[in-house]
Amino acid sequence: MDKIRIVGGNRLDGIIPISGAKNAALPLIIASLLTDERLTLENVPRLRDVSLLNRILSNHGVDYSLNGKRPGEDHLTGQTIHLTAREIVDTCAPYDLVSQMRASFWVIGPLLARCGEARVSLPGGCAIGPRPVDLFIAGLEAMGAAIDIEAGYVVARAPGGLRGGRYTFPKVSVGATHVLMMAATLAKGETVIENAAREPEVADLARCLVAMGAKIEGAGTATIHVQGVPRLHGATHRVLPDRIETGTYAMAVAMTGGDVTLTHTSGDLLRNALDALAATGTSVADVAEGLRIVRDPASPIHPVDVVTEPYPGFPTDLQAQFMALMTRAAGVSRITETIFENRLMHVAELARLGARIDVDGRTARVTGVPRLVGAPVMATDLRASVSLVIAGLVAEGETTVSRVYHLDRGFERLEEKLSRCGAVIERISGEGMR
Ligand code: UD1
Repeated sequence: MDKIRIVGGNRLDGIIPISGAKNAALPLIIASLLTDERLTLENVPRLRDVSLLNRILSNHGVDYSLNGKRPGEDHLTGQTIHLTAREIVDTCAPYDLVSQMRASFWVIGPLLARCGEARVSLPGGCAIGPRPVDLFIAGLEAMGAAIDIEAGYVVARAPGGLRGGRYTFPKVSVGATHVLMMAATLAKGETVIENAAREPEVADLARCLVAMGAKIEGAGTATIHVQGVPRLHGATHRVLPDRIETGTYAMAVAMTGGDVTLTHTSGDLLRNALDALAATGTSVADVAEGLRIVRDPASPIHPVDVVTEPYPGFPTDLQAQFMALMTRAAGVSRITETIFENRLMHVAELARLGARIDVDGRTARVTGVPRLVGAPVMATDLRASVSLVIAGLVAEGETTVSRVYHLDRGFERLEEKLSRCGAVIERISGEGMR
């Protein structure tokens, strides 16, 4: 298995291009199941989760192809994918595939809407908590689906097609909002989704569905109205920038000090997180190309408390990175995770680098320390692993992060983007290594 080796101490200066959002690309790829025509997605990040999802969809009958490189394209530019689900050949998503990526469970919405049936494996537990699927089931039932759990599978049937309904989420769920919105596009009549997730990725999926002929209003707000149509058609859609990648590099610059412009992105996608970053004493400026992040390495990092919340609150997917930054703050901060159980596993690894963090329930109390010292650490999940990289960038000496496959699921060419800005970071190929 590959490792990432970092020698801490350098400031970051330069330009980091931000990729298309992984969390938008995944539902957009799944939306290709809704039409027999071609869906073209531009600015798709080159990530393990994307290629895995393409392979999973090919089992349902989706043909996919990638554009080769075009003149003048930098290899950091996103890719263009063409997806065509001319005929759905299989409405079953088996355990060995769904268990590899939870988001592949989301095929249940489009398969049910288009074919009147779907048999999708329960995703199973994962490292950041049990992550149940009750909201998906209740929402699809509100649209007339009959749902049973059989031998580890969710079996959903709507032989006469789905019909519009009203569903109020008791708890905000990004994935269940994506699924209900996709399913509702082909249902008979109007569907109203209340207490919907307001994440920019939901709005991006809606933009693509509308380009495919869907009638959707209110995506990006708490109430979404979908007027069902008999069929959707092909379209071309450009994936929005990755706000989590944006926030991650912004926090890395705050950690090391320096002056970096994040291009192809927008501060409007993550205002809450940027406000928290600004409160740490980092300069955050919206510029024509994206965002400019500046911090004098000699100036102190102020402690700032954050609580994770559904959008537009502070994102859970930036919690670990912010905690890494707070390990070097001049004082005590409190970081509270409210979205997922068990999403503080990076605490033990950050402690290996010298961080002082006490966990009480869902809250981590971080006492800033003047120095971190490099050590071997292990990635536990996607966002946790990048928090270890951020800490490694300032830790004295060498930090090696193992289980890098977590990083490859969500961060495109991380080592290259950071080393171009002056970081000493490299991938060590896993040949003969454990
Ligand atoms: C998505 C993101 C993930 C992010 C999360 C929250 C993708 C591919 N992943 O995950 O990066 O961290 O949103 O912003 O976009 N829940 C239930 N029952 C359900 C569904 C969810 O109780 O049926 C709970 C979950 O366990 C969790 C909370 O709802 O505690 C929010 O989860 P959800 O928004 O659904 O997360 P994902 O869509 O899986």
